[in-house]
Amino acid sequence: MRKLNIPAGSMPDRCVDKNGLIRLNLNHPPPVPETFDQIFKDVLEELLLSVSPSALVKTHRWTGTEDDRLRGAEFTAGRLGTPPVEGRVVLTHSTQAAIHMILPGIIPEGRTLAVEQMAYPPVRTFAQRYGVPLVDVPIDGDGLEPDAFEGVCQKANPAAIYLVTTYQNPTTVTMSLQRRRQIAEIARRYDVKIIEDDIYSLLSPSPLPPISAIAPEISWYLLGTAKSFAAGLKLAYVVAPTPNEAARVFWPGVRATYWMATPMSAALMSNLIRRGDDLVILTAVKNELRIRHQLLDQILGDCRYATDPGCLHVWLPLPAGTSSQELADAIKSEGVQIAESNSYTTPSFRPSEAIRIGIGNPETLVLLEHALVVLDRNLTSAVRSI
Ligand SMILES: Cc1ncc(COP(=O)(O)O)c(C=O)c1O
Repeated sequence: MRKLNIPAGSMPDRCVDKNGLIRLNLNHPPPVPETFDQIFKDVLEELLLSVSPSALVKTHRWTGTEDDRLRGAEFTAGRLGTPPVEGRVVLTHSTQAAIHMILPGIIPEGRTLAVEQMAYPPVRTFAQRYGVPLVDVPIDGDGLEPDAFEGVCQKANPAAIYLVTTYQNPTTVTMSLQRRRQIAEIARRYDVKIIEDDIYSLLSPSPLPPISAIAPEISWYLLGTAKSFAAGLKLAYVVAPTPNEAARVFWPGVRATYWMATPMSAALMSNLIRRGDDLVILTAVKNELRIRHQLLDQILGDCRYATDPGCLHVWLPLPAGTSSQELADAIKSEGVQIAESNSYTTPSFRPSEAIRIGIGNPETLVLLEHALVVLDRNLTSAVRSI
């Protein structure tokens, strides 16, 4: 295909950040303004006709209104198979906010949190903030290794494990159904709670049932909107193992209010779901992502990378001796930012060198194409030969 060679500085301002960088290190869904904007306006208009603005923001949304939770049950049923009872559902400001409540809520003093050896970095930060010791579990091409997980359960007595089962961040691995069952069985046997972050699953063309559908009685299921609708929408639904557990961990909102959804966003999301417009937006995002994957394939198709048509990110292993840091620095000097493998681990574990490329974030295809061409130019022939 023809490769654009857009000179630095010729990009429209709104396409790059304030430092002039195209940020492929961010993992945001691709914008679909033709679909999103009209729906957003319609839903807001309908909302403001049905409730006065002052009534809408009169009070906190606590765990969400009853309607928010019912809509959340409807929304999460798409993944869980059946709608959870409303009392198990909590509407939170974001996945991160939910994790902030769940960690101290379910991990007693002296117990540990197990995480994937390469994991979504903020989880480590949150655990440290609450004084929760972390224990890493090795991962393979099918996600968390069952034997290693069992070993950790025996030796480190974790109260919970946090994991991403679909499009793992950063490796893109989607755990097979058989592996999900194995992990659920081990967790049950050792009484380990599962915190399953399913945030990337809504874009999958063929999603598998979450572990939380296999072992709901031990699972805290998280379904955020930031990776499939818009990063700034943030809202995330939590499905707790039981209504009592949901109330125990989340209800004392007066003492820790930051995790609550703002009324405006909450009402907007509930109405999106009620109208079925969430599905329309998801379809548009999936279509745009498919086009971006075609572009990726055209430009970097001769490299061995891991991804999937529904995955926002791409994991590109580098050959031994190639430094992901040096590669990232070289690419950054040409105005493109990517994420390196080291940022997903603790200093004690040195992962194989790799980079993560987020293809959803650039505002336009032209911009993504430019960034991928820069990446392509910087990848040595060695990368292509592995
Ligand atoms: C696995 C995972 N969970 C959660 C988030 C953030 O979710 P939220 O914006 O809902 O806090 C991210 C963002 O990168 C992520 O990769």
